[in-house]
Amino acid sequence: MGKVSSLQEEIKRIEREAEELISSAQSEEDLERIRVGFLGKKGKLTLIRRELGNLPPEERPLIGRLVNEAQEKISSALETRYAFIKSLLQERERIDVSLPGIPPRLGRKHPLNQVIDEIKEIFIGLGFEVVEGPEIETEYHNFIALNIPPEHPVRDEHDSFYITDDILLRTETSAVQIRVMESRQPPIRIIAPGRVFRRDQIDATHSHTFHQVEGLMVDKGVTFSDLKGVLTLFCERMFGKNVRMRFRPDYFPFTEPSADASISCIICGGEGCRVCSYSGWLEILGCGMVHPQVLRNVGYDPDEWQGFAFGMGAERIAMLKYGINDIRLFLENDLRFLKQF
Ligand code: DAH
Repeated sequence: MGKVSSLQEEIKRIEREAEELISSAQSEEDLERIRVGFLGKKGKLTLIRRELGNLPPEERPLIGRLVNEAQEKISSALETRYAFIKSLLQERERIDVSLPGIPPRLGRKHPLNQVIDEIKEIFIGLGFEVVEGPEIETEYHNFIALNIPPEHPVRDEHDSFYITDDILLRTETSAVQIRVMESRQPPIRIIAPGRVFRRDQIDATHSHTFHQVEGLMVDKGVTFSDLKGVLTLFCERMFGKNVRMRFRPDYFPFTEPSADASISCIICGGEGCRVCSYSGWLEILGCGMVHPQVLRNVGYDPDEWQGFAFGMGAERIAMLKYGINDIRLFLENDLRFLKQF
């Protein structure tokens, strides 16, 4: 076999080898490596072209043409493959609008707000209006007007955060009763949910910050039966038709007579269990007929107007309703807790 035919063979082989490599190339970098390997300065085809000078002149045109053809074939195979790889990449980068999106995490109402909203809704249904009062209160509204003079022993339980001698963080929403009665004339039917503060040591049932819902109704001829009727309806709607109510005498400076209201235990139905301390009853609020002195303090004539009031701890209601055993959970913002409601 002459030199020409072996060169022809060699060119064909190089061509085939290049085409095979090109067709399996996966990236631009692969293609560049192949280009350099065949067409670069020391590329296989370039080396053959260099040998052209050593060939007898009559053989040069043929081999020259074959080298050129091989070069063109390889170049165009490189280009084709390059276009293909590029289109694959673009395909991968294109946004597929049919893919399911990343669902945003939905927020939800804090369990305490859920309970307060529920309480509001029940009382709105009974003709009550929702009002709010300031969290920073005067000693007058928080204590004096509610019949709690400076030396009164109940102040011990209402140790508060004082801002000045006579301005403090309110210890009870009862202060809103005074503000409402000062600013309008009866008939009055309001509830006042809100935050209250006491300088209490924190434990499973005590917190320096908690929530109450206050209620007040003032009208002509309001009696203790109205109080019992309204609160019984409330409890049935809040805890279920089957709850029974119990009213026991209690003492609050701003009501007379006063009572604490309990419901039959919603866990055991009254049999006695750990939640109700084996008593069968759960205390849920304080209440009573508005003290005549409180009515006088706001300029109402107690012979003309009577009223009842009540106050409940929102955390306590939520704890009973959902079986939560530690009041601290409400303030900790632990999503593992909050997500359960
Ligand atoms: N303010 C009372 C407390 O914080 C709760 C309360 C009891 C409110 C009786 C009332 C009521 O309106 O009539 O302990």
